[in-house]
Amino acid sequence: MSDKVVLAYSGGLDTSVAIKWLKEKYNLDVIALTIDVGNERDFSAIQQKALKVGAVKALVKDVKEAFVNHYVFPALQADALYEGQYSLATALSRPLMAKLLVDVALEEGASAVAHGCTGKGNDQVRFDVAVNALAPDLKIIAPAREWGMTREETIAYAQKHDIPVPITVSSPYSIDECLWGKSIECGVLEDPWVEPPDDVFTWTKSPEQAPDKPQYVEIGFEKGIPVTIDGQKMDGVTLIQHLNELAGKHGVGRIDHIENRLVGIKSREIYEAPAATVLLQAHQALQAMTLSKSQLRFKQKVATEYSDLIYNGLWFALLRQDLTAYVNSSQRFVTGAVRLKLFKGNCSIVGRKSPFSLYSFSLATYDKGDQFDQSASPGFIHLWGLPVRTQAQVQPTPQAEGPLSIMPPQRPEKG
Ligand code: ARG
Repeated sequence: MSDKVVLAYSGGLDTSVAIKWLKEKYNLDVIALTIDVGNERDFSAIQQKALKVGAVKALVKDVKEAFVNHYVFPALQADALYEGQYSLATALSRPLMAKLLVDVALEEGASAVAHGCTGKGNDQVRFDVAVNALAPDLKIIAPAREWGMTREETIAYAQKHDIPVPITVSSPYSIDECLWGKSIECGVLEDPWVEPPDDVFTWTKSPEQAPDKPQYVEIGFEKGIPVTIDGQKMDGVTLIQHLNELAGKHGVGRIDHIENRLVGIKSREIYEAPAATVLLQAHQALQAMTLSKSQLRFKQKVATEYSDLIYNGLWFALLRQDLTAYVNSSQRFVTGAVRLKLFKGNCSIVGRKSPFSLYSFSLATYDKGDQFDQSASPGFIHLWGLPVRTQAQVQPTPQAEGPLSIMPPQRPEKG
């Protein structure tokens, strides 16, 4: 009996070829594992295909709920947005996939796991490092990183071994989807000057074709987790699916980003992430109202660190657990509702409220009811400005004689 390997199987060309190749090259029996993270495919067709191509077993696991509750929502609470643009959809799904590979390998007594990543991207790092963290002794095989075949050679290999070549191979794009977003690369997109053709977008309407009337949506949060839409309670998966549809219809969530990959390459990435765009924006708006200034400043630093961790494949590193503890604590008063307006590709915050709001009308207002004691300000400013005044008396402020002096002094107009 041969040894077994559990392969993360998408049903695409590379992973189908990998089933045969793993048998040929390593004499391993392949257990194909297909993971549903909300990528809406015909999973039973994929399962049949795996068996037809030669897998000894084909499993499909629906992990949408775990994905949302244990990966997506913690990232949302952390405001994770890589380089300020990418909501990390693909990056968040990989550690969960790695966890399932490891679980199935242990259940099935397999000696190795395999994935279809090439040697140029981030996903190989995420799979390998996550597997290392969870099962340091498990062997990892990445056929597409090893076999050295070009696209054409892979197709020829498939044809020779009677592996159906999907028509989508003619699609010039490399696509990865999960509930949190769709990632699109390759083809004409590799020219960063070229506007993405409309056929790359399938989740979002182009803003030009979006409805001429704006739509309002109200999102309710409890401790930083979205729980209602327009007052209606929803589980996380349904809530995200609903928002993807709604915001996508209004053209919200298209992102065009020159991204810094971990392996040192700059790549042009197109994303569609309607729900993520809306939720990240709404979450930040609610935090602006419920966290203090210093909490917000510090949380931004954590957000950058947290995003980098996710992007760089360090989901299972202990530092992420530490940061998660901080993030959780920071969310205890992030409860309330945010109202947004979706219109022709834009998503704007138009209202927010919270039982824990730190916004005080009587402090902010310029009208009747103002309780802010303006007479306290001169004293405050006297002390606040003290170090600046002291320094200016001894060490002339450079601008006092620099660029400003070449400009004619601005004088207030006489009214
Ligand atoms: N650049 C994104 C990331 O690293 C998307 C990767 C898309 N992956 C893919 N197999 N097409 O997270």
